[in-house]
Amino acid sequence: RVSIVDLLRRPAEIIGADDKASHAAIPLPAELYRPQRENSHGIELGERKALGALTSAIAAEQKASPSVTPSTTEQANAAVAAARRGFKAWNATPATKRAAILDKAADLLEQRRAHFLALLQSEGGKTLDDALSEVREAIDFCRYYAALGQKLFGAGETMPGPTGESNVLELHGRGAFVAISPWNFPLAIFLGQVTAALMAGNAVIAKPAEQTPRIAAEAVALLRQAGVPPSALHLIQGDGAVGAALVAHTAIAGVVFTGSTEVARSINRTLAAKDGPIVPLIAETGGINAMIVDATALPEQVADDVVTSAFRSAGQRCSALRLLFVQDDVADRMIEMIAGAARELKIGDPSEPSTHIGPVIDADAKQRLDAHIVRMKQEARVHLAGEAPSGNFVAPHIFELSAAGQLKEEVFGPILHVVRYRADKLGEVLGAIEATGFGLTLGIHSRIDDTIEHVIDRLQVGNIYVNRNMIGAVVGVQPFGGSGLSGTGPKAGGPHYLARFASEQTITINT
Ligand code: NAD
Ligand code: ALA
Repeated sequence: RVSIVDLLRRPAEIIGADDKASHAAIPLPAELYRPQRENSHGIELGERKALGALTSAIAAEQKASPSVTPSTTEQANAAVAAARRGFKAWNATPATKRAAILDKAADLLEQRRAHFLALLQSEGGKTLDDALSEVREAIDFCRYYAALGQKLFGAGETMPGPTGESNVLELHGRGAFVAISPWNFPLAIFLGQVTAALMAGNAVIAKPAEQTPRIAAEAVALLRQAGVPPSALHLIQGDGAVGAALVAHTAIAGVVFTGSTEVARSINRTLAAKDGPIVPLIAETGGINAMIVDATALPEQVADDVVTSAFRSAGQRCSALRLLFVQDDVADRMIEMIAGAARELKIGDPSEPSTHIGPVIDADAKQRLDAHIVRMKQEARVHLAGEAPSGNFVAPHIFELSAAGQLKEEVFGPILHVVRYRADKLGEVLGAIEATGFGLTLGIHSRIDDTIEHVIDRLQVGNIYVNRNMIGAVVGVQPFGGSGLSGTGPKAGGPHYLARFASEQTITINT
């Protein structure tokens, strides 16, 4: 018999199935780009042990001498100036060559997989399964943008027209592009932003999260080894103040940001207040993501998908489930099954292959989550309040709210909030989801086609998952990103992403 926890440890098979189903929608032939998946079942015992040793060695080394010092404002300004100088040559480099460099970076990531897995575990606190899927996602970003970029940034598109002239539309880089990334996908999101901006012909100033500087530094070293010239890629380390200084610089040509809605707003304000050219912002932010479960859903599948969506990665995914709406006729049974499955999860050392939930990112995050738990214990009905080991660990919690509005902000950890609803009140559920203002991910578990269609038609949410879990979007297969408070679009890992990093030029020649 396959237990729910076993199922939780097999995301690759679920993703593999979806990947086949939706691949036809991508405008890239499979021989140009094909994502792959693996999980810890494919890692042999010997390799796991070696990986454990590598992770411990890297962690000890980091403790002995923290390797990364934050950059100064002067260094940030110098990086923008250097990127502006490097831009011209990089933008003039043929798209085929830029793509070959990204493909080479993907090859190097494959070769150095164990090293990056160990880094993700030691610096990012990732479990083995999470680290594996993150390395895969980073590889997918490099290969997908390389394949797509060759089509978009090649010879230009000849436009049809009755004018008797020749008309060609070309895409070029914009200039010095700032890329600011979060700690929760320190390799995949960092590389996804940087490779997209580079593929479009921009010179990049990358500012990773202050919590995960070493992963970013090693990713930049890898890109340089793959052939990205130092003049086209500059790494600036530091906290939000350093990011704010970069954004305020008068000579930048664009910003791609992934992180909280609050910081996205502040970047937007800074850009809007500047004199000079109008600087575009691509912002990918958070969500109060919901799942709707009606009485026709399959309970075992719901339990598995809810546990995966709410608790995997210690709930530290922007896509994670925060607000579960369950039809009241089945709510008691569903909640009991979900809590039962969550109780089986093992919390602890992420380098231990059997661990399901590693630490949250730092002591501040733990403090914020603990404060939320204390508040919920007073305001909500407690269905699960697990015990966590000492350190920055937070056990899965399940709280039942009397109304969705009790959850006012994104809670970035393994805490699930449940609300019961009556079958004739689905409209109120949809209204409550809209009222959050976010629109990142949504789950629906139902076997009634009309219900599914109605929910999809009504809600403006970026990624909707029906009768499956709602995390782990696959690059080039499930383009990812939201609307409203969740971001500006376009979707990362989708066919429209690269064009937003570019400027367009139409050349008309009187023939
Ligand atoms: P954060 O907004 O605190 O920080 C993100 C980055 O912005 C960091 O590099 C940080 O140093 C920098 N920063 C902070 N203040 C800044 C400022 N004033 N100006 C410029 N840069 C500044 O977010 P976080 O805590 O690192 O990440 C978690 C958040 O990211 C969650 O809200 C999550 O939902 C979101 N997220 C969204 C996606 C997505 O694709 N939509 C993916 C991952 C994470
Ligand atoms: N892209 C990540 C996911 O889908 C955040 O879970």
